[in-house]
Amino acid sequence: MPGDLRTTWNDMAARFNDWGPPLRPCAEDIRVMQKMAANWHRASRREKTTVFLCGVTPEIVTMRWPFPIELIGMDQAEGMVRAVWPGDLPGVRRGVVGNWLESGLRTGSQDLVIGDGGFAFFPYPDAQRALMAELRRVQPPDGLIIYRHFAQVEKKESPDKVLSAAASGRIGSFHAFKWMLAMSLQVDSARGVRQHDIWTAWVGAGIDPAGLPQPGWSQRAVGTIDLYRDKQARLYFPAVPEFTALLEEHYDGIEVRFPTYEMGERCPIISAWPRA
Ligand SMILES: C[S@@+](CC[C@H](N)C(=O)[O-])C[C@H]1O[C@@H](n2cnc3c(N)ncnc32)[C@H](O)[C@@H]1O
Repeated sequence: MPGDLRTTWNDMAARFNDWGPPLRPCAEDIRVMQKMAANWHRASRREKTTVFLCGVTPEIVTMRWPFPIELIGMDQAEGMVRAVWPGDLPGVRRGVVGNWLESGLRTGSQDLVIGDGGFAFFPYPDAQRALMAELRRVQPPDGLIIYRHFAQVEKKESPDKVLSAAASGRIGSFHAFKWMLAMSLQVDSARGVRQHDIWTAWVGAGIDPAGLPQPGWSQRAVGTIDLYRDKQARLYFPAVPEFTALLEEHYDGIEVRFPTYEMGERCPIISAWPRA
């Protein structure tokens, strides 16, 4: 992870509660993840399932797991592990600082790999492909991956369209807006979008959040975009077919579920089995 991105996440850790869905998973996402995991587990019949969580997403760590687990949550930003990880439980879960690409986990050791939105930090396609290969390496052939992806829509919107929808109160959540704006600024998945450019587009539009009718634009939510100021790190949002094409290099049985909430068409939850 480039230094800029680690700084962003260390900054975010201290203000984590200012972020909300859809950038964090909501109850609907968790229900879908639980169901995917439970369906897989019925056939796999393990007594204890090893789980590798990419990140420390508390909603995933503390969800009602439909089977006994031994979970490792890994995040490169120390601040996230210190401030956001819900705490170790011996024999059940452990939070560690580390890089997913050099996790040190044994080959085939993690039955279930799960994550919420981590691929967007990896350049598409090569670095996303490398992460996919590494996640596949740590899984046994009868494992499962569950991942909520942030996907560009197939017919990209223009930044003007997103900004005018926001200015007229048609985007309920500031976090959804921030991601829609970011995606609209992405020329293509390989170039991604620079964080600073998201901030510039927002400031340049001169929208006064205090004058908007929708309640999801609190000062604290709107303030989260300031963390992108002067950050050169880029975000990458491949569309679903682009992302699943990479996944298919290592996984079979791909299932894609689109949630029903605002922007759900850009937040598919994807599950797949490691190819033997
Ligand atoms: C899992 S993602 C998505 C966040 C998610 N939507 C949430 O709030 O629950 C965010 C985390 O990924 C971490 N991260 C990004 N690249 C990483 C890498 N190569 N290794 C470990 N952690 C990484 C960041 O530090 C950040 O804390």
